[in-house]
Amino acid sequence: MQVVLRPTADEASSLVARMIAKALRDKPDLVLGLATGTTMERLYGILARMHQKEGLDFSLVRTFNLDEYIGIPADDPHSYHYYMHQHFFRHINIDRRNIFLPDGMAKDLKAEAKSYEEKMARCGGIDVQLLGLGTVGHIGFNEPLSSFYSRTRDKSLTPTTIAQNSRMFEDSSRMPRRALTMGIGTILDSKALILLATGTTKAEILAKAIEGPVTSMISATAIQLHHDCRVIVDEEAASLLQARDYYRWIYENEPEWEEYRHR
Ligand code: F6R
Repeated sequence: MQVVLRPTADEASSLVARMIAKALRDKPDLVLGLATGTTMERLYGILARMHQKEGLDFSLVRTFNLDEYIGIPADDPHSYHYYMHQHFFRHINIDRRNIFLPDGMAKDLKAEAKSYEEKMARCGGIDVQLLGLGTVGHIGFNEPLSSFYSRTRDKSLTPTTIAQNSRMFEDSSRMPRRALTMGIGTILDSKALILLATGTTKAEILAKAIEGPVTSMISATAIQLHHDCRVIVDEEAASLLQARDYYRWIYENEPEWEEYRHR
């Protein structure tokens, strides 16, 4: 795992955008795993601008989102389908046929979860999976005690997640109690992971997730097991990390980061 600290949320998001742009230029039909949430809004804004101003081409990319609420239709403004179209897809030249999200309205959720995994496999698996970090330590909606071998499935949300996400609902009683989410095993099968976390509210859980012991109580600790994982954070989120100086040294000295340093 490599951890990169950037001074602000804008700079952290811009670094992730450039990493994704590079992956896309290296492989135009990239299979890109996407996340939703407040943290990602800034990143999608930057990627949309890169498309509009620099011609970053999404025409062949295939995308798979981590999760979707159960019982919220795609055209409902609270759905993750809607979020993705609002914040990202409508601003770029992606082929609508290449957009995949789990269907939270499916009658048979187990069949939907299985078919979602099959679609990923048919595309050759996920090349780069983008991750946010929930304050309970979840990635996707893999709440505490999610098995590290878990695959896409329906999952009950914790009271903390429900309380946190119900902010987005004018009528908080409409906040779903369950979601369809890629599993930890699904996420770990991705060829590369990029986790983006910003702001002081993420400092405590970030320190546990990347420097603490691996435990299914904090599903984000599973990323420590991945062979190609980059964690990009701002100084606020990084404030409780013990090895901050080492991470800074890596970014300043490792050749891998050279092309990103001088911009
Ligand atoms: C949603 C997802 C979640 C969020 C996490 C952080 O697709 O994967 O794990 O990334 O809850 O959300 P924000 O950015 O709103 O703090």
